[in-house]
Amino acid sequence: MLDDASFMKFANEIRKKLNFDMSGYKLARMKRRVDFLMRKYGFDDYNGYLNLLDKDPSRQKEFFDRITINVTEFFRNPKKWEKFKLYISEEIKKSSKGTIWSAGCASGEEPYSISIMLEELKAPASFKVLAADLDPNILESAKMGVYEEKALVNIEGPIRKKYFEKGEGGKYQVLPNVKRRVNFKRMNLLSDSFERNMMAILCRNVVIYFEMDAKEKLYKKFSDSLKEGGILFVGGTERIFGSRKIGLEPIEPFFYRKA
Ligand SMILES: C[S@@+](CC[C@H](N)C(=O)[O-])C[C@H]1O[C@@H](n2cnc3c(N)ncnc32)[C@H](O)[C@@H]1O
Repeated sequence: MLDDASFMKFANEIRKKLNFDMSGYKLARMKRRVDFLMRKYGFDDYNGYLNLLDKDPSRQKEFFDRITINVTEFFRNPKKWEKFKLYISEEIKKSSKGTIWSAGCASGEEPYSISIMLEELKAPASFKVLAADLDPNILESAKMGVYEEKALVNIEGPIRKKYFEKGEGGKYQVLPNVKRRVNFKRMNLLSDSFERNMMAILCRNVVIYFEMDAKEKLYKKFSDSLKEGGILFVGGTERIFGSRKIGLEPIEPFFYRKA
């Protein structure tokens, strides 16, 4: 097992070379994953593995795939989406425009779900979706918007027909009426600054990799990014302790409102 100091040096090089900052992530978890990849290619230290990453873009892709877990699906946890839809329908009545942000959007199922929800609510085109993730490869696939049937388990037939085209190999392509509201952006939630005045933020199943301190800072930044009355929708196992102190009023499990 290599020591933490060598890993920190490796992390520093990765920050410079791949523009990815690993500080804020649970160290032991990151190290385990990197050590696995390093040994897979027969290296006993991080330098050899760094050289490989330098030379081979496909190994960079593997590196990102391995350290960020991208599992997701459309309308993940459907009952919560019903609640979310109610909050958003109220907001749409009150405003003429707004942005809903999928923070950690993975392969696009979450931001496209938001877009489908907005379409179903007949929201004007001025209601947009911001979709951000750290992993450049996953963002490319998100932009294409092509999915295996299993990603659509929570979507019923009539909605599938309205928003997807079934193509070759039984895959589903999201239609332009879903894509047009969504803007994809590469972003590191731990180090980048955030846009303001968000109508809602979804950050689900992302912070599980983060250290407590990084999580607290992130929730404070989300609070600052939300407009008054804006909604924060978190993952099924996530809870914000002391949320009121950062201006987030708990409304029901997994939903907070900016005071
Ligand atoms: C498990 S997926 C969650 C997808 C979706 N939100 C959901 O709940 O179905 C986690 C995503 O968070 C992204 N992620 C991890 N760390 C991140 C960071 N620091 N900044 C932005 N995205 C990050 C990963 O690349 C991955 O795509």
